[in-house]
Amino acid sequence: MSSRPLTRAWVVNAAAAILATSSVARATVMGKGPSSKLPTLGWNSWNAYHCDINAAQFLDAAEAIVDRGLRDAGYNYVNIDDCWAVKSGRVNGHIAVNKDKFPDGIDGLAKKIHNLKLKMGIYSTAGTETCAGYPASLGYEDVDAADWAAWGIDYLKYDNCNVPPEWQDQYVACDPASTHVGVNGTCNVKDEPRLAPPGYDWHKSKSAERFTRMRDALAKQKREIVYSMCIWGTADVFSWGKDLAASWRMSGDIQSNWDSIKSIINQNSFKMHSTSFYGHNDADMLEVGNGISPAETRTHFALWAAMKSPLLIGSNVKNMTQQDIDVLKNKYLLAFNQDSKYGEPAQPYKWGANPQWTYDPASPAEFWAGPSMDGHLVLMMNVQDTTVRKTATWGEIPGLRNKNYFVTDVWTGKSLGCLGSYSADVEAHDTVAILVGNRC
Ligand code: GAL
Repeated sequence: MSSRPLTRAWVVNAAAAILATSSVARATVMGKGPSSKLPTLGWNSWNAYHCDINAAQFLDAAEAIVDRGLRDAGYNYVNIDDCWAVKSGRVNGHIAVNKDKFPDGIDGLAKKIHNLKLKMGIYSTAGTETCAGYPASLGYEDVDAADWAAWGIDYLKYDNCNVPPEWQDQYVACDPASTHVGVNGTCNVKDEPRLAPPGYDWHKSKSAERFTRMRDALAKQKREIVYSMCIWGTADVFSWGKDLAASWRMSGDIQSNWDSIKSIINQNSFKMHSTSFYGHNDADMLEVGNGISPAETRTHFALWAAMKSPLLIGSNVKNMTQQDIDVLKNKYLLAFNQDSKYGEPAQPYKWGANPQWTYDPASPAEFWAGPSMDGHLVLMMNVQDTTVRKTATWGEIPGLRNKNYFVTDVWTGKSLGCLGSYSADVEAHDTVAILVGNRC
């Protein structure tokens, strides 16, 4: 059983939603429980180990998450990524666990993870094979979802590789990262003949159908399984993702370098409207601890937290420096990410190096802000390679006025006093983070 049983409210809501829609020809099932409300916090195997996984690494990660205080800070999912199955194909219609990698099965591992008061996630793909070529779930949604529920799975990352021809979308959505683009990320049919016509409803796409099948299969299970769609920002998932899943990947894969981090921030800055409670743009797993500099680590984590992305650690937790652990445990940034009253993410309010709303993977918006129960979180990022002096002017920030406020430094926790604006030298690739609290 899960370490945290389903709440009664969720079961009642789910039943009510099914009843409410039972007259509709194909009843919509409620797939989102309480654990989908806020961004997921946890750990995933891919960035650290790729396909080279085994049960011991998951137990090590889980124990390190507990020992280093990350569970107490809120990180509670331990998620298996690709490559956990027997590669050659299904066995008696089921995906079989690779017993060389997981001698006690995934259910055996899940028990140990649950005993540590953590939850267990698994991975599959809405295609014929996973991205690394293992058996996948398109056409087998009910069988697979039932197996995972029986094993004690609490979370599914559902990927998007190996889509057979009959499941291909009719159109391509405007995605500045992968299609021909005009000014500031706009697309036109001359450059991309398969571009969807204006007003096309992406709920009707084959992509939405593939991912809906798994949502429905998960919703039939008697345990809550958080649904995370790894659809890389395709098929305009921003317009329908929230109807199905707790989160959806908004970009291609992150790499452990500064250019990749900046590029994802740039892409996501144009998509912040689609993140709120029960539906989050997933900016991909964290690279904290995987060789990026301390300044880049602060920027990466502050922005991911502020954008209300799921925060899934992707490195070897046991070996991580205390400095990196402290960034992951930053209580102000975690509180913003997990705020139970304010669902919306921070938004860019000023580009800085570029004119407003410039689509530039190398130089994304530098000034971000958003409200929370503790005040306004304000970030000033420096995309340049040299130190730059930056100023946060309250009057430029939606929700603040040109008055004096109490200000706290998010990195040190120290009070900066009662201020009418805040200026700081921001080191190359670093981010200054402050909380602007009550008027004074
Ligand atoms: C990619 C996905 C990665 C990882 C990988 C596994 O499609 O974006 O996060 O899951 O597949 O093969």
